[in-house]
Amino acid sequence: MCGIVGYVGHRDAMSVILPGLRRLEYRGYDSAGIATASDGCLDVRKKTGKIAALEMAVAGDPPRGTLGIGHTRWATHGRPSDANAHPHIDCLAGLAVVHNGIIENYRDLRKTMAAEQHRFRSQTDTEVIAHLIERHQADGLVSAVSRAARELEGAYAIACIAADAPNTLVALRRGSSPLVIGFGQGEMFVASDVPALLGCTREILVLEENEIAILTPEGLTLRSVDGVPVRRHPTTVRWDQEAAEKSGYPHFMLKEIFEQPEAVRNTMCERVDPQEGHVQIPELGLKDRDLAGLSRLCFVACGTSWHAALVGKYLVEAFARLPVDVDVASEFRYRRPVVDSRVLTVPISQSGETADTLAALREAKDHGSRTVAICNVVGSSLAREADGVVYTRAGIEIGVASTKAFTAQLIAVTLMALKLGLARNMMDTMFVRQTVKALCELPDLLSVVLDQSDAIRRVAARFADCDHALYLGRGLNFPLALEGALKLKEISYIHAEGYPAGEMKHGPIALVDSRMPVVAIAPRGETYHKMASNIEEIKARDGMVIAVATAGDEEIHAKADVVISVPATLEWLQPVLNAVPLQLLAYHAGVLRGCDVDQPRNLAKSVTVE
Ligand code: AGP
Repeated sequence: MCGIVGYVGHRDAMSVILPGLRRLEYRGYDSAGIATASDGCLDVRKKTGKIAALEMAVAGDPPRGTLGIGHTRWATHGRPSDANAHPHIDCLAGLAVVHNGIIENYRDLRKTMAAEQHRFRSQTDTEVIAHLIERHQADGLVSAVSRAARELEGAYAIACIAADAPNTLVALRRGSSPLVIGFGQGEMFVASDVPALLGCTREILVLEENEIAILTPEGLTLRSVDGVPVRRHPTTVRWDQEAAEKSGYPHFMLKEIFEQPEAVRNTMCERVDPQEGHVQIPELGLKDRDLAGLSRLCFVACGTSWHAALVGKYLVEAFARLPVDVDVASEFRYRRPVVDSRVLTVPISQSGETADTLAALREAKDHGSRTVAICNVVGSSLAREADGVVYTRAGIEIGVASTKAFTAQLIAVTLMALKLGLARNMMDTMFVRQTVKALCELPDLLSVVLDQSDAIRRVAARFADCDHALYLGRGLNFPLALEGALKLKEISYIHAEGYPAGEMKHGPIALVDSRMPVVAIAPRGETYHKMASNIEEIKARDGMVIAVATAGDEEIHAKADVVISVPATLEWLQPVLNAVPLQLLAYHAGVLRGCDVDQPRNLAKSVTVE
């Protein structure tokens, strides 16, 4: 999730772009850059680190020109560096591009253009865009961008300027990466998000899917990528700055909950092929024969990431028949773990800076274990120290409570389990093809669950004045019970415990009474009937049961007080969908109790101390 700002008009482009980038810094801050055009030349400046580093770098000698584009980066391909920072240019430094999103076919395009003698300067997917446009530049900038777009696969938002096209800025959008156009007097603006423009204009038009915008000081020309003219008018935005950074959501946490379809889609892209049913994770850095020779896999993680690791255990053991240990990272090194070169250690971390997880990684490496991290922050300590890293591509996660990173982690451990299963010849291709197809349907199914947010807010009202809650699940949904309880605890400060439902009669049932809500995660599947019995046992003791169940399950309605329905998918993938009602229950309960849901008391987004 990066930030783009572009300007064309009568002002010094720098005076618009840098403040705009600062307002988009919440979208990512690995590196920043700006390109301006004047007197037939481009001036490109870019710097690793936050926008302040770029501002310092240009302070004494700012780039000139009334046409420019800027970018603040959240790295997905290529670690944070000056070379990988945007804007990216073509071979002749005649045009510059900034990009948000992922180019899924960038590797093939890069090979083709390198064979055509294009010279690449970075490891990013973005740079292929600049060379593709260069290839068609004889047709003029607008046509070149349109033609390049037809060769790109993936979801992206692009802004481009050229030294030989003064006063012209071309922007293009495909898929879920946003772009908004701002209207001024004799000047036009483009940005990834409204906050960047609030200091300049409130007349905003949202670029739609497959639309190309040509901005000049005189105004906007809008057309489809196929060249069909489009006529739409700007609207006036009333948001204040803070509301705009949350895209109109009241909290970053809710915004990030609703970003899960995109986070899941991005984490899968380039890694699954629904047509062929292929799974590929080149970043694993391990050949199939290495994977086949493993004796054990060891997940290490903390908090929500540990819950994702627990789901990973079920999947890896089921798919690959490989024994799996799961350790809370802070406990790992105290148990004198039996780890050697045949053990694959997989630390999972959203931030990549959690001290306990880093310590566990180092402990495993000291014992000769191969390590592959699952991480959401490119270039983080964990990513740098592990032998390999599989990035979740959830985008920057600002809310302290991890939501979209969690479901992205579930996708990552699922892909890893499939890859291990295939490498160890434990899976038939039909099952893999079926699973890949179901994976690709998840983003749309997540949207179906998210549509229930208002209904779930009404359910959360039943928690609002409770002091305790119990979450129950079986099999893959036991880690979900733990995650649901953690979300409720950390967001609403209600004491909540997650338990394997089969353990209820071994103690927790003593807690059940009419004041204790029990969330039972009971989708159709292998453990459904046992969950149904647990629900009856709770009801027999005046407990209040909120069931997370499969859409269309009428039976559960006769048993539970409240049912939150979730679309059906393969049992192995159901946790990705079941997580969302649990996140929304916690979020709405926290809001109803007046809690600071984005920055809960006593918590930090990254626990960098042991
Ligand atoms: C999750 O909602 C919590 N904020 C916390 O448990 C978090 O998952 C844990 O601190 C691990 O963080 P990491 O994924 O960045 O390593």
